[in-house]
Amino acid sequence: MKTSVDVKLKEYDLKLLEKDYDRISIFVEDTKKLDSICSRIDKVTKGSISRAISSTEFEKKSCGDVLTISFPGALSTEYLDLVKWSKSGKPNDARKAGVNLAKKSNHDNILICGSIQKMSEDVIKGYLLRRYEFSDYKNIKNTGTGSVTLMLKRPKDFAKSLSEIRAQVDGVFFTRNLVNEPANILSTVEFSKRLKKLSDLGVSVEILEEKKLEELGMNALLGVGQGSANPSKVVVMSWKGASESIKPLVLVGKGVVFDTGGISLKPAGGMEDMTMDMGGAGVVAGTMLCLAKRKAKANVIGLVGLVENMPSSTAQRPGDIVKSMKGDTIEVINTDAEGRLVLSDVLWYAQEQFKPAGIIDLATLTGAIIVGLGYENAGVFSNDDEFCNSFLKAAGNENEGAWRMPLGPAYDKKLKSRLADMKNVGGRDAGAITAAQFIKRFIKKDMPWIHLDIAGVAHTKSESTYAPSGATGWGVMSLNRLVSDEFEEK
Ligand code: BES
Ligand code: ZN
Ligand code: ZN
Repeated sequence: MKTSVDVKLKEYDLKLLEKDYDRISIFVEDTKKLDSICSRIDKVTKGSISRAISSTEFEKKSCGDVLTISFPGALSTEYLDLVKWSKSGKPNDARKAGVNLAKKSNHDNILICGSIQKMSEDVIKGYLLRRYEFSDYKNIKNTGTGSVTLMLKRPKDFAKSLSEIRAQVDGVFFTRNLVNEPANILSTVEFSKRLKKLSDLGVSVEILEEKKLEELGMNALLGVGQGSANPSKVVVMSWKGASESIKPLVLVGKGVVFDTGGISLKPAGGMEDMTMDMGGAGVVAGTMLCLAKRKAKANVIGLVGLVENMPSSTAQRPGDIVKSMKGDTIEVINTDAEGRLVLSDVLWYAQEQFKPAGIIDLATLTGAIIVGLGYENAGVFSNDDEFCNSFLKAAGNENEGAWRMPLGPAYDKKLKSRLADMKNVGGRDAGAITAAQFIKRFIKKDMPWIHLDIAGVAHTKSESTYAPSGATGWGVMSLNRLVSDEFEEK
């Protein structure tokens, strides 16, 4: 299982430059004025830095880009990475620098000569996030055990920030590891076992089995899983970091461990990607791990609905009518629109049980959101402008794409059923919005709610901002920031 690389903090010491790190990274200002580190290296490498930074190649680079010098003169390091930097550099430029360095240093021991504290936080965060590879099933693994040393003026001041960053990166990696797992390994049973381990960090974890779900009347959720040999489960993870009296923030995730479409079977091409249909549950799990690791002073409850959507003689049929826990009946027109059925019951249970201050659901819900927003932004739907804007701000600060989408009664009308209170699909047009309208029917009046359709951002074929191809862990950092901005006891 992939965990983040070791980070050593070292006091500013020019002698470190002579140690045999595989790579040394230094920041060079675009003013071309060399600081003490750059001057020292320039001297021992007979002016290589001065020459490199006056090159057109360096000129063309932007803030956070890297130019590499191989086997630099008298230094014992193999590579010298020059990071172009500017005084007006933004946190995202620093993260980009970290990402660029990580892409170059797969299994190396590297020294990063840090600059100002705040910028170094973003550099190391970008670096750790990008130094990820899921190679559990490869006999020949690509990654070694390399480490990173960060040289700073005041390393002691950095220790607290580093542990916060590590909590976030560990949360993101937990999500990525879950999302990258194949469905023959990550069954509903295995998923719940991995969540149970969060109790080692002080999260209380309760697993609701099928019998209990039947008693609760979660027939919408159970209908999705009834064709699978793997039992359906709801897992409740509670982190109580604030006073008992403070209402919790509730996170709910779609955890379809594999989505064949059921009897409304998906086409074969690309069906293997549906191992990631538990992405919402993965983000909820990663966020809970992050909050617990950094001991957030907040009350947050994460719930995931774990089911497998399979076609079989016991599977739900198109045309079946199920009664949800809320009591509303649903005509299942298409068994491939299963995520909303799972969420409807878990959302209702969460509101009845925990009386939350606000509720956020995450789901790889529709192909339609990918048609609309591609792989750059998650679709954000909400009934509460203030809550929604807080989330959008948090996502913006974490550089995780999120774009608000509309809701409205005209879309809701499309869910009208001839036989039941509603049907589970609203037609091809505005598919992501009608899915959100369906979920909204299970949100109580006045409950602040955000629905995140993460079908495009949970997993990408090409590399994303912070991750190589595959699972991204999108959302863990934004939700963590939302919690620290809005839900923590000061
Ligand atoms: N899990 C899919 C949505 C999805 C598609 C996630 C692509 C990630 C990538 C979801 O359960 C689904 O099949 N949705 C259908 C809904 C339709 C039947 C109304 C879809 O989007 O086609
Ligand atoms: Zn589906
Ligand atoms: Zn699905």
